[in-house]
Amino acid sequence: MDILGIETSCDETSAAVVRDGREVLSNVVYTQIPLHRPYGGVVPEIASRAHVEKIRQVLSDALGERKIDAVAVTYGPGLAPALLVGVNAAKGLAKALNVPLIGVNHIEAHLHSPFLFDSPSSSADGEDPRDVCPALGLVVSGGNTILVDMPEYGKYEVIGETLDDAAGEAFDKAAKLLGLGYPGGLVIDRISEAFVRENPTMDFIPFPKGRPREGVSALAGLPAALCVSFSGLKTALMRYIQAHPDLSLSGHDERDWGGYTATPDAAHVIASYQHAIVEAISDRVRTALDMHPRKAFVLGGGVSLNSGIRKSLSAICSERGVKLYMAKPKYTGDNAAMIAGLAMYRRRVEGEDAMRMDATPALEIGDICAGREALK
Ligand code: KG4
Repeated sequence: MDILGIETSCDETSAAVVRDGREVLSNVVYTQIPLHRPYGGVVPEIASRAHVEKIRQVLSDALGERKIDAVAVTYGPGLAPALLVGVNAAKGLAKALNVPLIGVNHIEAHLHSPFLFDSPSSSADGEDPRDVCPALGLVVSGGNTILVDMPEYGKYEVIGETLDDAAGEAFDKAAKLLGLGYPGGLVIDRISEAFVRENPTMDFIPFPKGRPREGVSALAGLPAALCVSFSGLKTALMRYIQAHPDLSLSGHDERDWGGYTATPDAAHVIASYQHAIVEAISDRVRTALDMHPRKAFVLGGGVSLNSGIRKSLSAICSERGVKLYMAKPKYTGDNAAMIAGLAMYRRRVEGEDAMRMDATPALEIGDICAGREALK
């Protein structure tokens, strides 16, 4: 079965065709990052307009001459005006081609990305996701940091999450404070990796490791030991910068770290900041595996590209004999292949039911709320 997927939940306009849930026949991603860069973050109106301008081209490039059996679309969570562009395009296409429509949750789709493989391939790479569960999963992206239990494929229970900023926001806000540009995750990662490689024994600046206090109301019943709070980390960095007015990215001793320039002092701060995020996530993952022992761990989302997170989670999982599934780098960020892939395991809707599908900006993972059962 060949499914066309559409993704417009944030700042990527993407369309893809995926066969039988895993084999990627095409995946076109138009990123709006340069449009949002001057504002240091995603501007919903600009995102929506850019989706409208690009969606036709992206769809036509992904589809080519292919015949498809269904259309899948991200219907939440995400920015309302951005989601609407994809949902409306999907409805129009499903109607015009007379094929079913499938609504997909964006966060759940990130947890499908490790199971995608590129066509042509003589055999399916890796395992069928349905054989991997029971598993734990972690989505770390610009908008989410969520730990989930997956007793079986397609069932998700949130066991931990961020109480404020997502991991990607923590990276992006630090990059802004340090003058590294937007988005900041990759720059911070490259500088950190190069700095630590050259200074393997140095002490990190002790930034807070994002552990919320037990009993705070924002936990909403989740254990603090499985949640993160990154807002204090950003404040700690701000205070550190204020207390060190001489700290500068540029100076007589600036040099190259993984393709980006910084002074050794600035690189030390950057590496320490990344270390705090990696430690926070690693600590919560260790605790999650202690509390919910599982045979597999699935990692997805833009921040899952981070070298520190990949290295640390690989070590944690291998120590415990847990199999770690990570997405190929090109499928870590927002893309439609993960939408078209997961759609294979989701309910198809047709006719009037399909036309009733709505963009749902606050859709939660595992959300089967009244009126939306038809989309599952
Ligand atoms: O999943 P994603 O493409 O989309 C959103 O959720 O919007 O994730 C984007 C996020 C950004 O915050 C970006 O800074 C971060 O992923 N990111 C990284 C790395 N590459 C991208 N963060 C840390 N290390 C990286 N290598």
